[in-house]
Amino acid sequence: MDSKIALLKEEFSAELKKAENTADLEAIRVKYLGKKGSVTDLLKEMRDLSVEEKKAFGQKVNELKAEVADAIAARTTELKELEVLKEIESMPEFDVSMPANITEGSYHPVTLVQRQCEQIFKTMGFNVEDYSEIVTDYECFEALNIPKHHPARDMQDTYYLTNGQLLKTHTSAAQNAIYKKYRDALINDNVPIKAIFPGRCFRNEATDACHENTFFQMEGVMVDKDISISNLIYFMKTMLSEVFQKDLKVRLRPGFFPFVEPGFELDISCLICGGEGCPSCKHSGWLELCPCGMIHPEVLKAGGIDPEEYSGFAFGLGLTRLVMMKYGIKDIRDLNSGSLKVLSQFTDDE
Ligand code: PHE
Repeated sequence: MDSKIALLKEEFSAELKKAENTADLEAIRVKYLGKKGSVTDLLKEMRDLSVEEKKAFGQKVNELKAEVADAIAARTTELKELEVLKEIESMPEFDVSMPANITEGSYHPVTLVQRQCEQIFKTMGFNVEDYSEIVTDYECFEALNIPKHHPARDMQDTYYLTNGQLLKTHTSAAQNAIYKKYRDALINDNVPIKAIFPGRCFRNEATDACHENTFFQMEGVMVDKDISISNLIYFMKTMLSEVFQKDLKVRLRPGFFPFVEPGFELDISCLICGGEGCPSCKHSGWLELCPCGMIHPEVLKAGGIDPEEYSGFAFGLGLTRLVMMKYGIKDIRDLNSGSLKVLSQFTDDE
């Protein structure tokens, strides 16, 4: 019996050496370890042995089985590596000097309009501020006169992080930080606070042609002594007329936001029908573009500014919406599509 095992071992290692590829190895595996394989056959021969002999022989056969399996596995790895190397060698050489076939990129339409607005506001003396996309509950709601459980929160459900922070639902979330940053200059040196802060906002939204869960706004605030609604109307009208390169009609309607008092919706005359009424303006002749209002005394207080002495206005321009109007984009989802076919149509025409 022992000699049989020794013979099989010899035969096996000879065949293993000859194997040239993984297919050969598979054939060897079947020949030795398969159901009708030579090693398996050895076990069948045990029938005629005594109990003692069976035990000793069985152990040896099992050892042989393991040896054969290990040897095949090791050789398989070796051969696979060789096969990969061969394939690499047979590949045509890569020419690093070949010119790349790259489609030239263009600015995203939101970036174009944002830069344009920034430029216009800069010439009117506004600072441009950047702000994070992840904010605290305090910044996004509490500091804006929206306490916990206030119904206004319902319209601004968002994505919450496990640490309690959230993705900002509106650019107003930066207001508190801006007031704190500039209040010393306001109070000590009589420098009015004039800032705009564009940013990406997020809301838990069922998406369709007019709704997206990720969109852009551009907030603006101005705080000084004796700021009134006239100042608000003047700045908004000037900015929008510059963006659209024509003198637009604007109107204010009452609107509710807990952080302004009084609050408004600013509409512009419909650019598509010129105010006659069409499907784009729901036949009203007006397009809702910019919620705004006079900053609520509680919000000024939270920013460390005395509302008895100072007043201000705030607006939250829907930058994404403005882009859609300016370029006549009908589906908001195109803007986040990353599709070059759509986006490369817009170039910097400044
Ligand atoms: N933050 C408000 C919104 O996103 C808009 C707004 C900004 C309203 C500033 C008034 C003043 O709905």
